[in-house]
Amino acid sequence: MYQYIIIANGIREIDTSIAVSKLDLFLGRKGIPEADDYAYKTIGSEKYCGIRQMGNSLILIKETSVIKKILIKDFDHFVDRRPFFSDAELSFKKMLPMLEGEEWKGVRTSVSPTFTTGKIRRMMEYFNSVGQEWVESFKEKARANLNGFVVINAHTANIQYAVDVIASAVFGMNAGTIKDPNSPFSQYGTRLSDFTKWQIFKFTIAVNFPKVAKMMKLKLMDMEALGFFERILNQGLKARMSGDTTKRNDFLQLLVEAKKGELKAEGKDELESFEKDAQIESTEKKQWLTEQIMNSQSLVFFFAGLTTASNTITFATYSLAVHPDVQDKLRKEVDKIMKPDGSLDYDDVSSLVYLDMVLCGEHII
Ligand code: HEM
Repeated sequence: MYQYIIIANGIREIDTSIAVSKLDLFLGRKGIPEADDYAYKTIGSEKYCGIRQMGNSLILIKETSVIKKILIKDFDHFVDRRPFFSDAELSFKKMLPMLEGEEWKGVRTSVSPTFTTGKIRRMMEYFNSVGQEWVESFKEKARANLNGFVVINAHTANIQYAVDVIASAVFGMNAGTIKDPNSPFSQYGTRLSDFTKWQIFKFTIAVNFPKVAKMMKLKLMDMEALGFFERILNQGLKARMSGDTTKRNDFLQLLVEAKKGELKAEGKDELESFEKDAQIESTEKKQWLTEQIMNSQSLVFFFAGLTTASNTITFATYSLAVHPDVQDKLRKEVDKIMKPDGSLDYDDVSSLVYLDMVLCGEHII
């Protein structure tokens, strides 16, 4: 496993376009990780180098002790990611991965309490009920076949599962994608998160030629899909702000509680160790959770959560299919914690060492 990070400013520069050309990026043949990897290998035993990427001068650092300082102790000074297209739509620019400086710190510290172990434990009922419905849908299809088998497209099935989890745990809705793969929620959700060739092309133009993108009034997001979710979010947030709805344990509810200052720690309610170690502090004391910020953080689940999660499950599914011995071992581990109704307990899942290894790909190394 390589260890490196990239921060702004330039030193000895490695020309990564030798390994990854602009045409490669345009056509989606290769990406930034390959360019970083080329520079990392090229500098050999040197501790750092400069690289130019997407119009930015960056430093690539190889020295573990410096990386640790930047990512933990001195993190407060290094919160920004690489700059991105500054004329992107507001809903996109206001998502956490795109925010910078004080605004990032303010929003991050405001939403972090919604991601504690205690809050995720509260959402477990939604993950379980979608999971149970998902398994039942496979059983039904298998029963409907004379031979008792069903062939499924794992990738499509995993997306359907992930969409229904997001709908339930974030928006407090039953999207019904497992029953009806063409549900509007699923279609619009996939349109928001899909990295089609056209989407890659637009991103490449926006990042490499921001002036051209501005002139062309290029929209990075699918505006129809965005409108669909903004309407749902506005209604959902209004209903929860007014208390005019049955209290749910979803992300919108947590955001509203955080905004009202009512988010309480519960039981074993822990933040990730990064949150404790990095000690991010915003100097500006203000209400960061505006309606726009709350909408954008809910949409992050499609941008940052849908394909990342469903692709991870798809790769794991494939790997388990070609390594039946690993599949058996994993099934035995999961069976031990599974309740008779097929549901799982949050703490039990966290204790599954072999599952963690499988998801990290360590079972095939
Ligand atoms: C296997 C699944 C996932 C992978 C591999 C993944 C990967 C990443 C990576 C590499 C980053 C950048 C970290 C950095 O710059 O330091 C990131 C940031 C982020 N991811 Fe994920 N992610 C996954 C799932 C999710 C899910 C399900 C969500 C749903 C909310 C999510 C939301 C975010 C957010 C909000 C950020 C920015 C955090 C911040 O700026 O404070 N990710 N993710």
